[in-house]
Amino acid sequence: MAEKSRSKTIPLLALFIGILCLYFPVKTTAAAALEADPAVDLLYLTLVWPGTFCYFGQCCKPTTSEAYPPANDFLIEEMKTMDQTGNIIQNCNETCRFSINVDPMPSLIPDLYSHWCNLTCPCNNGFSNWNNTWCTYGQCSQLNQTDFFMAVFNMTAKANLLEVFSANDIAPSSSTSYRLRDINTALMANLGLSTHIECVTVIDKTSVITLVSKINICISSDGQSFINCPFENPSKSCNREVFFPPFYINKLKDCDDDSVSSGGFIKMATEKHLAM
Ligand SMILES: *[C@@H]1O[C@H](CO)[C@@H](O)[C@H](O)[C@H]1NC(C)=O
Ligand SMILES: *[C@@H]1O[C@H](CO)[C@@H](O)[C@H](O)[C@H]1NC(C)=O
Ligand SMILES: *[C@@H]1O[C@H](CO)[C@@H](O)[C@H](O)[C@H]1NC(C)=O
Ligand SMILES: *[C@@H]1O[C@H](CO)[C@@H](O)[C@H](O)[C@H]1NC(C)=O
Ligand SMILES: *[C@@H]1O[C@H](CO)[C@@H](O)[C@H](O)[C@H]1NC(C)=O
Repeated sequence: MAEKSRSKTIPLLALFIGILCLYFPVKTTAAAALEADPAVDLLYLTLVWPGTFCYFGQCCKPTTSEAYPPANDFLIEEMKTMDQTGNIIQNCNETCRFSINVDPMPSLIPDLYSHWCNLTCPCNNGFSNWNNTWCTYGQCSQLNQTDFFMAVFNMTAKANLLEVFSANDIAPSSSTSYRLRDINTALMANLGLSTHIECVTVIDKTSVITLVSKINICISSDGQSFINCPFENPSKSCNREVFFPPFYINKLKDCDDDSVSSGGFIKMATEKHLAM
């Protein structure tokens, strides 16, 4: 990127590049991502706050929630592979085999169901999310499937976001707002410059407010440590005051799935996974 001193030329240059992109729209990141041997410099773990994700009451109970209820905590969404500048590196291998029966995956099942569940409707067991994350990004990483998933869980536990917030008097609340600066200070003290916060904007009666929705965490490519994010937070979505709404597990919509009402769903879901 050009430096500030050359800023006068930037608008014209940007316009020129913009026009070029209009003429050659496909030749950008998608093409680059498919080139051989892309350099993955970091892992970008995305944790979602379910209180915000389900703020409008549109969430469904995972099909496995009776045995493994969703954690009242930040939930795992995915872990992307990126280069130094924050470009996503994906789809490195056309063939993909995600397997839940490679050791120690079976022992991760309770964690997968409770911490890596998907609360969108219709009710689902989260499997397609794990599969997509492995197939789209995991295969670009230097880790094998086992280590990739272990890294996701290990680093999520290490980040311990809810505890970090709670130790700084930041707790989910339907009435109190927090200063973004205080949240960043809490994250900074515990995780250094390795986090990027994201918010969503909602219209509450007449005012426009922002709710903390995701925390992204930069992790070394070997999955072992938090690193300073080498690029700026691409999201500028949080106001100076943000809300951190509670997550109400009992407000999740029930599923009208036969396998749930019969009570046989746990066995079925597990067996189905183990067979893959
Ligand atoms: C849940 O799954 C849907 C569909 O696969 C996906 O679009 C969404 O991002 C997932 N949500 C989370 C929180 O992982
Ligand atoms: C692509 O994935 C398949 C199946 O998982 C594997 O056998 C193969 O070695 C991979 N190819 C490369 C280039 O990594
Ligand atoms: C896993 O994801 C890949 C690519 O995203 C897809 O081709 C494949 O069908 C999925 N497998 C299962 C079992 O859903
Ligand atoms: C994954 O990689 C680690 C470290 O390289 C190795 O110890 C382990 O055996 C591998 N696991 C599988 C299932 O290939
Ligand atoms: C994850 O944590 C476990 C237990 O602390 C440890 O044995 C394992 O080596 C870690 N795995 C990775 C990939 O960091």
